[in-house]
Amino acid sequence: MPAIQIRNLVIDPPLLLAPMAGLTHSALRRTMIGFGGVGLLSTEMLSVKSLPVENPRISPYLIRTERESPLSYQLLTSNYEQIGRAIDALHALKADAVDLNMGCPSTAVGKFGAGVVLMERPDEARRIVAEARKRTALPLSAKIRLGIEANSGKLKTFCSMLEGEGIDMLTVHARFKHEPFARNPRWAYIAEIKECIKIPVIANGGIFSTEDAEKCLSVSGADGLMLGRGAVTRPWLFPEIARTVYGIDVPKRAVSLPDIYTAFIEALNADYRPIYRLGRLKAFTHYFARNYKFGHSLACKVQSSSSMDEARERAGTFFANSSKESMAATGAGVIAVH
Ligand SMILES: Cc1cc2nc3c(=O)[nH]c(=O)nc-3n(C[C@H](O)[C@H](O)[C@H](O)COP(=O)(O)O)c2cc1C
Repeated sequence: MPAIQIRNLVIDPPLLLAPMAGLTHSALRRTMIGFGGVGLLSTEMLSVKSLPVENPRISPYLIRTERESPLSYQLLTSNYEQIGRAIDALHALKADAVDLNMGCPSTAVGKFGAGVVLMERPDEARRIVAEARKRTALPLSAKIRLGIEANSGKLKTFCSMLEGEGIDMLTVHARFKHEPFARNPRWAYIAEIKECIKIPVIANGGIFSTEDAEKCLSVSGADGLMLGRGAVTRPWLFPEIARTVYGIDVPKRAVSLPDIYTAFIEALNADYRPIYRLGRLKAFTHYFARNYKFGHSLACKVQSSSSMDEARERAGTFFANSSKESMAATGAGVIAVH
């Protein structure tokens, strides 16, 4: 079986949803669960400072339904001092796993010494992991990039340090700090990391199809895969990879793009306060619209909407006017346009 076990958590299949700010929240997770094939869900990055004071019933970062399980919560911090309180909050929230963000390349995050900058501050990164490890018995993972620039020795030393301090699983987004998404991911570096640590290593970056998944696994030798933008665009990518790559029998479900979109809107309307809805719909539409040849038109219409109702109506008109021929090559088994 290809499943991963870290502590008492079984990740089966070894396919993980990526943390993505503004995207990986409850409504998206529900969409993913509907299709199956996800072994571990995630939140977006959560500031250790704000987390303990957020109200989980109304915070768009913390809203969660029971079906969203298992769920890993990702923490963003620049130092070890606040991690204890944040982990206490995660225990109260019944987190299934805790992930430490050591890969975010944003300048705003880096200014505070968090994200990928921690790979340049290994002593602080060590303190953060040691403190987190001391405060929780939950599975503890870290998500990194390849570093600031090519330096395999430094990268391997960093990964060994993480393992030595008690990290149970490592996810590697196979790009350097400044590399944009347009740059091909460097999966071969993950094979180098695999040589020097024993904990499960998850490969991430640039997986948009079953072919990408197969190639990434063969180049990296990774123990599992994490999908981000590919899964937002095509939520049925998880079961496709689970079936094709891991031979798992995930039941097939018809894919109706308008239905997926409507269910996403309904989840936002039902459970999120009004100010948190439209921005999240726009962020989702940016990727989801790629399923249509003229998807930029859908994205622009939703982007320029000033209310959920307006966005919904415009999207409805777009779907109604879209024929099967207007679909981009989605690769979905069964597609209903209307
Ligand atoms: C909009 C957006 C927000 C992101 N936010 C986070 C985040 O909160 N934490 C994190 O570790 N990575 C974040 N990432 C990076 C993704 O987790 C992932 O590493 C990256 O998108 C590459 O995977 P993909 O090619 O499958 O999308 C974000 C990426 C995107 C596109």
